Amino acid sequence: MRITGVGTDLVEVVRISGLLERYGERFMRKIFTEKEIRYCSARPDPAVHFSGRFAAKEAVAKAAYQSGWLEVIPWRNIEITNDTHGRPSVNITPQVFSVCHLSIAHDGAYALAFAVGETDHV
Ligand SMILES: CC(C)(COP(=O)(O)OP(=O)(O)OC[C@H]1O[C@@H](n2cnc3c(N)ncnc32)[C@H](O)[C@@H]1OP(=O)(O)O)[C@@H](O)C(=O)NCCC(=O)NCCS
Repeated sequence: MRITGVGTDLVEVVRISGLLERYGERFMRKIFTEKEIRYCSARPDPAVHFSGRFAAKEAVAKAAYQSGWLEVIPWRNIEITNDTHGRPSVNITPQVFSVCHLSIAHDGAYALAFAVGETDHV
């Protein structure tokens, strides 16, 4: 297994909360999957978690493009889920990496994410 792509992204929470307020469901459903919407909407401050997921999708896309992937990956083809401990993981369709590690953080005005993709056939 070899690391073939890394990506990071920083998102200002107010930018995402603005889009959520302005475009509501339309923005939400264009970017996020049903599972992601359910997870974020159940939190006390949904915009923070939507921001973390937005940053995560950008970070994963950067890692994919860095690895040599040439096609655009639609937002909803990158799905972020959390296990029972809160640990995030990512499912990418098509499967760009053999495994993609992901970390998300948020504090105050910002959310950030970092992704590391590994490939086993190079
Ligand atoms: C993990 C932990 C340090 C995160 O601290 P935090 O200050 O709340 O983290 P941030 O606000 O910067 O980031 C939150 C993000 O961290 C990620 N996260 C949450 N729990 C996590 C965990 N156990 N491991 C890795 N990442 C975690 C999530 O992606 C979360 O964002 P999301 O809910 O929008 O997906 C804290 O939740 C903690 O101490 N948890 C208890 C310990 C624990 O669960 N241990 C599990 C291993 S045995």
